[in-house]
Amino acid sequence: MKKAFPLSEVYRLLEPGPVVLLTTTRAERPNVMPMSWHLMMEFTPPLVGCVVSNRNYSFASLKTDRECVINIPTVDLAKTVVACGNTSGRLVDKFKAFGLTPLAATSVKAPLIAECYASLECKVRDMNLVAKYNFFVLEVVQAWVDVSRKRPRTIHHQGEGEFMVAGRTLHLPSPKTSRGGK
Ligand SMILES: Cc1cc2nc3c(=O)[nH]c(=O)nc-3n(C[C@H](O)[C@H](O)[C@H](O)COP(=O)(O)O)c2cc1C
Repeated sequence: MKKAFPLSEVYRLLEPGPVVLLTTTRAERPNVMPMSWHLMMEFTPPLVGCVVSNRNYSFASLKTDRECVINIPTVDLAKTVVACGNTSGRLVDKFKAFGLTPLAATSVKAPLIAECYASLECKVRDMNLVAKYNFFVLEVVQAWVDVSRKRPRTIHHQGEGEFMVAGRTLHLPSPKTSRGGK
């Protein structure tokens, strides 16, 4: 039987996945911010919507430079992800403090994270909803994936320090519809 659920906890039911590490650069220093509030918005060019709080150090970099990298970590990096989420680039050089390796990107100033299995170089395409919701629309302009990792076990935040780890893959027959119809 279902019971009333606190509205402040609803995000825990709908958390999308996977948790990503957003990299930006400010004052010549790269920064890392875990982010789980993101969604795909278009296939081609790939558009990604995301919420970056204006309380975070990353916000100003994203707003000013209008570029970033979305890095996708796997479960082996879970503790590092949480550590990056409990500190701010205002005070800490997270790359140094948490042993992450920056790699030069090709289209943006922000670095890729070597330890992550995929990295998406992005440019900010729309800031119309930033003032109201801290919502940025990003376009992926270059994507990198470690193809040697066949079944990356990504982590999916469920709030209160809980993460679901990606597991089994199901292959089901899918109708031949246009991508617009998913
Ligand atoms: C798993 C996880 C997911 C998070 N998702 C978001 C998010 O989607 N948007 C956001 O603004 N902050 C999110 N945060 C909080 C920021 O990562 C956190 O405030 C961080 O310290 C900000 O770093 P910065 O000040 O260096 O930018 C998340 C934190 C964790 C641990």
